[in-house]
Amino acid sequence: MKILILGGTQFLGRHLVEAALARGHEITIFHRGLTNPKMFLRVEELLGDRTGDLEALRGKNWDAVIDTSGYFPHIVHAAIEILKKAVQHYVFISSISVYDDLHLKSQSDETAPRLSPADDTVRTMSPSQYGPLKAACENVVTAAMPGQSLIVRPGLLVGPYDPTDRFTWWVRRIARGGDILAPGNPDRQVQFIDARDVADWVIAMTEAGQTGAYNITGPEQRLSMKEFLDRTNSALRAGGNFFWASEAILNKQNIGPWMDMPLWLPDTENASLEFNLSKALKAGLKIRALEETVCDILKWDQTRPQTLLKAGITAEREEEVLTAL
Ligand SMILES: NC(=O)c1ccc[n+]([C@@H]2O[C@H](COP(=O)([O-])OP(=O)(O)OC[C@H]3O[C@@H](n4cnc5c(N)ncnc54)[C@H](OP(=O)(O)O)[C@@H]3O)[C@@H](O)[C@H]2O)c1
Repeated sequence: MKILILGGTQFLGRHLVEAALARGHEITIFHRGLTNPKMFLRVEELLGDRTGDLEALRGKNWDAVIDTSGYFPHIVHAAIEILKKAVQHYVFISSISVYDDLHLKSQSDETAPRLSPADDTVRTMSPSQYGPLKAACENVVTAAMPGQSLIVRPGLLVGPYDPTDRFTWWVRRIARGGDILAPGNPDRQVQFIDARDVADWVIAMTEAGQTGAYNITGPEQRLSMKEFLDRTNSALRAGGNFFWASEAILNKQNIGPWMDMPLWLPDTENASLEFNLSKALKAGLKIRALEETVCDILKWDQTRPQTLLKAGITAEREEEVLTAL
């Protein structure tokens, strides 16, 4: 198949290109040339900017496009106006953040209510606008290519090349061993998925011309925060000792959820990591073992400068909280 990827050089996009090449597809990527230019030898690279210069996309045809870099409805609209006659299938990488947390129930599936889509005039991104903007982008895609679009809603993406450092922070921290601060309720469910599993599944779904919306996260069986920490500790042979801090203690110590302690969401917040992924599983999603994911992340992380990560508390801050415990 001839597949165009809008993006393709950072994280999920990079794994999509690798998965598609491994399955013998002919790949074109479109990006500005700022993030890892000329990284792939066997890939056609078109340069342009989604915010204004789409000329390189004109006059060409592909079987399918995978859009990993659509965050604003007017930007997705501009690309799809050019591409709707040039492709048969539009795969849009959305997010689980499109759902309205306040109305989510445990094990919500794809029919759960979404947030109200952001207005077409919104031009700046903020954490509270990310979900509404993605919902608006989904609407643009499904309206422009009815019956020809696949909407992929990933949960937290993890794995090598993750630019956010969130999950990677846990891997690096646990690998260091010693006394480790563990957040909140040990039994609280956590969800995340290796971006390479998403990539393999998206390419298979693209090959099959599948349409509709899918939640895509993992693991397959319920995983608690405690199980996640213990299994990662064993997989990395780190020998760490976990010390659990309640939500009240973390609040008192000014430790915030998610960015200070990735994967931690307080029970008191209306946020959920309990999405139902059975539709994607029925459609062939295969999820690799947690142990493989964390070992590969560690291997990759060790090739990078060991500077401060973008997420997670510092060692000093952790020490302070452990002392207060
Ligand atoms: N990370 C998560 O946990 C998570 C969870 C749920 C959903 N998602 C979604 O998953 C997707 C994956 O993102 P990714 O960063 O991993 O994708 P990616 O395709 O690997 O990287 C982003 C690509 O977009 C290109 N790009 C950025 N701005 C551009 C512009 N104005 N014009 C043209 N190209 C542009 C970048 O190259 P240049 O810089 O060279 O242009 C890069 O190739 C996103 O849609 C995100 O919302 C992520």
